[in-house]
This record gives sequence, C-alpha cells and structure tokens, in this order.
Amino acid sequence: MTRAENPSRPAVDSENPSRPRVDAENPSRPRLGVLISGRGSNLQSIIDAISAGELAASIAVVISNRADARGLQRARDAGIEALSLSPREFADRDAYDRALADLLLARRVALVCLAGFMRLVGQPLLDAFPNRILNIHPSLLPAFPGLEAQRQALEYGAQVTGATVHLVTSDLDGGPIVTQAAVPVLPDDTVDTLSARVLVQEHRIYPDAIKIVLGGRWQVAGRRFLRDVVS
Ligand code: GRF
Repeated sequence: MTRAENPSRPAVDSENPSRPRVDAENPSRPRLGVLISGRGSNLQSIIDAISAGELAASIAVVISNRADARGLQRARDAGIEALSLSPREFADRDAYDRALADLLLARRVALVCLAGFMRLVGQPLLDAFPNRILNIHPSLLPAFPGLEAQRQALEYGAQVTGATVHLVTSDLDGGPIVTQAAVPVLPDDTVDTLSARVLVQEHRIYPDAIKIVLGGRWQVAGRRFLRDVVS
C-alpha cells in the first residue's frame, strides 16, 4: 500500500510534532487543508501567497460545511479540490469531525487552516492533527472571542483591536497565539469599516503564520508559542 492509499497514516511526525510532513514527490511543498464556511477571502489570501511564491505549500483540499460557501468557487477557480460536507448528514458532532479528519488524512494534509469555518472543532479532529490546526480570529485575543468580534470591539469602546492567528485547542479561540496584528478603531467606524480594516491585516498575517508553523523550529510551552527553538 502506498502512502496515498493509506489514510490512517498520522499526519504528523510523532517524534517531532513541530515538523510538517512533506510530500515525497515535492519535498518543499507541505500540503494544507483549508476549512471554510463562507466568503473565503482568507482562503484567497493563502492561494495568492502560494501563487506569488511567498508561501511554499500546496492546498490539497478545501472543505466547507455549507454547500453555498463562495470560497468553494475560489478553490475550484484555482484548480483545488473543493468539497462540501454537511453536518446534517452525520449522527452527531463527533461523527462529522471524524469524517473531516478522514478526508484530510486521506489527502496527507500536514496542516489544517480554519478560514472562517463557523464550527467548533471537536476532539476527533483535534486528535488527528495535534497542534496542527490554525485559526484566524478578527480581534486581539483574548479580547472579544466568539462571534462578531469587530462589533464587540466597537461596542466595548476599544481603541485598538486587530487579528490573531492561533493554534486550535478545545478552548474556543483560546489556543496558543502564533501571530497578531493591531488595528486602530476610529471614531467614525461602523462594523463594516472596522471589519474591512481588520481584514486587510488578516490577509497579511495568515499566510505568514502558516509559513512560521510549516517552518518548524517552534514549540508550545504552556500557553506560549515559542519560535526559533531548535529541537
Ligand atoms: C474572517 O474575519 C475571519 O477572521 C473570521 O471569519 C471571517 C471569514 O472571512 N473567522 P473569509 O470567509 O475568510 O472572507
């Protein structure tokens, strides 16, 4: 059986979890799996960074929990496999997450990127990709986790908000922080204007964070993501 036929093969080198597994045919291109629910502008920023040669990776598959996600078309336009997997077809959350994990493992994905994926990630997926799932959130975590982070920042009266890329754990928006960018909140901001300003930074930092994680030389110590650690 070849590696490609063996979806149960773990996605991570268990002796060195910070080191991505790479494709034997193309050793410089670790394979990403991107999970989306909607517009897919962060997915696009990853596609664009790869096309521009700024991110040495390939996107093996894009999966949406919603069939009408605009990001699926972005993936197809870029020649990337695009699947929709409805939670309604599964008995419960664990069964859905196991199916997601199987699809990703079968495609030998080294790193899973949540890009506007509007679901909590459950244990079966976390177990399949330990410290190998990233999320982008439109605030400076730990401020304003959960939904409508930009509205929360505006209503709170924060003068600075931003964007965060973090490792995904069972804590909602609570995993170790890989990178952040700050964005000012201006006096005449609406949710839309603030969201647009935050989004510019999201599109900048997500490909950067992916590059950092794929580069290895990092470890997690407690809550901290430590870079430039030689193992
Ligand atoms: C982004 O603001 C992201 O931070 C949040 O959901 C939004 C998704 O936007 N998690 P898009 O689908 O990437 O355009």
